Amino acid sequence: MSVDRKRRSQSWFGATGRSGMVYRSWMRNQGFGPDVFDGRPVIGIATAWSELAPCNSHLHRVAEAVKRGVWQAGGFPLEFPVMALGETLMRPTTMLYRNLLAMEAEELIRANPLDGVVLLSGCDKTTPGLLMAAASVDLPAIMVTGGPMLNGKYRGEDVGSGTHVWKFEADLKAGRMTQEECYVAEGCMARSNGHCMTMGTASTMACVAEALGMQLPGSAAWPAADSRRMETAQRAGQRIVAMVDEDLRPSAVMNRAAFENAIRANAAIGGSTNAIIHLLALAGRLGVELNLDDFDALSRSVPTLVDLMPSGRFLMEDFCYAGGLPVVLRELAAGGLLHTEQLTVTGTTIGANVATAECWNREVIRTLDAPLQPPGSGTAVLRGNLCPGGAVIKQSAASPHLMKHRGRALVFDSPEEYHAVADDPDLDVDASDVLVIRGSGPRGYPGMPEVSNVALPAKLLRRGVEDMVRICDGRMSGTGFGTVVLHVSPESALGGPLALVRTGDAIVLDVPARTLTLDLPDEELNRRRAQWRPPQQGPTSGYAWLYTQHVLQAEAGADFDFLRGCRGHAVPRESH
Ligand code: FES
Ligand code: MG
Repeated sequence: MSVDRKRRSQSWFGATGRSGMVYRSWMRNQGFGPDVFDGRPVIGIATAWSELAPCNSHLHRVAEAVKRGVWQAGGFPLEFPVMALGETLMRPTTMLYRNLLAMEAEELIRANPLDGVVLLSGCDKTTPGLLMAAASVDLPAIMVTGGPMLNGKYRGEDVGSGTHVWKFEADLKAGRMTQEECYVAEGCMARSNGHCMTMGTASTMACVAEALGMQLPGSAAWPAADSRRMETAQRAGQRIVAMVDEDLRPSAVMNRAAFENAIRANAAIGGSTNAIIHLLALAGRLGVELNLDDFDALSRSVPTLVDLMPSGRFLMEDFCYAGGLPVVLRELAAGGLLHTEQLTVTGTTIGANVATAECWNREVIRTLDAPLQPPGSGTAVLRGNLCPGGAVIKQSAASPHLMKHRGRALVFDSPEEYHAVADDPDLDVDASDVLVIRGSGPRGYPGMPEVSNVALPAKLLRRGVEDMVRICDGRMSGTGFGTVVLHVSPESALGGPLALVRTGDAIVLDVPARTLTLDLPDEELNRRRAQWRPPQQGPTSGYAWLYTQHVLQAEAGADFDFLRGCRGHAVPRESH
């Protein structure tokens, strides 16, 4: 092992005098011999582990595999915990904390004697949060996501985490399933370690990280329970040591071309709408020019190739056995839809990484010639007087007959206000109405929660209605489905046009034309705007206050204004 005295970590471990003694001595209480301070790369392993984040609860074991690889390659691995954001338990929403995770991880990486970092994530927000942190520090970094759960199985059928929660809820409400059956089914849904195995936000972001070039080829799809997950983690440990020598940093990997690759990959996998918000935030950290319209423009030429829930039939385990993301990327490359020369954490190009990828199941991963859905049928970006800052709709999870729709607005100021009456048999609602649920934006909720795909009114469910248009300034879970217009901006709490809609107004959704319109004359809108008063005061102290003061709107990725950009990894001033 060559000794490099100029390594960042040597500002600590190579120091003489009292400070050097302090830096080394306390580390030795963990049983490390003096040779670990000889100038070898010190590799941090940022682990978003917690028993409160079940999707990440096995990441300690993944970290052990990473450590093997780091030692093997001559590095010195040191694992440290970062905020674990568990979708299922955290209230009011993990999205409130993504920026806090990013801020925490950024500061920990910079403040410590690290030369490179391995990012261990899994559940939805942990992947973008750690990528944002790594982008803002710009030390060599590689990501290892924890892998999806095995397919859920109930009564001989595949059950998708998240996706089937909505199905079971609807079945329960419509009387097709008993409460007892539901208890059994929920246990069958999550039968191994790992994150959601639908193409929800976690699987989407794992694929996005791979398409960005930030994790090893094939890494996104290995199930958490598959031994090759650990093998991949070990290889990532080996690789990060070499990356430190090559000084291969996130800024060299995640450029505009990498984002274009990620956006097209997201369209091809039928990925989550949340990827849009996370990629916009990540681009802001790197100074990469990216806006909402880029998503629509880049996705339009890309067909959906992957037949996974919630848009399709299969699950991540099937995707893995079919060949995983490398097959999708190879397919995109063949169609001229991938920047193949783009550098990745492997040290070679993404085109070279996937050049020999083979597909083992064409039901699961289709070809460009015979796709699951035609080009332009993925997530669309809408504009119009109801969403001047933009809005999105995931067409592949929506109903074709509602893509062009005019309906009467039925307006609720909060999801709670809707839920209070949703089961009322006398609710004045019809399947052609448009449910408007406001108060769910970044500032308003606060945290922009995944509450937008509210269940339909029980009265309509019993009548067999399966979908209706819903409009919201919040988000939808990546595992969700329905004709739901999301991320309406500016949000209602800021007095955006969504705040001005009244029950009875006509709303026109035209997805082929990419428009969302409130059918009212400008004078009437202006009159209502003049009368509008902001909703009741938000948080006045604590983190939630900081959040509401600094969070940006959806089209800027809901990052904090003061966290955009890269702050680098200069060695901070002495602590002793
Ligand atoms: Fe953690 Fe879905 S709840 S990934
Ligand atoms: Mg989710």
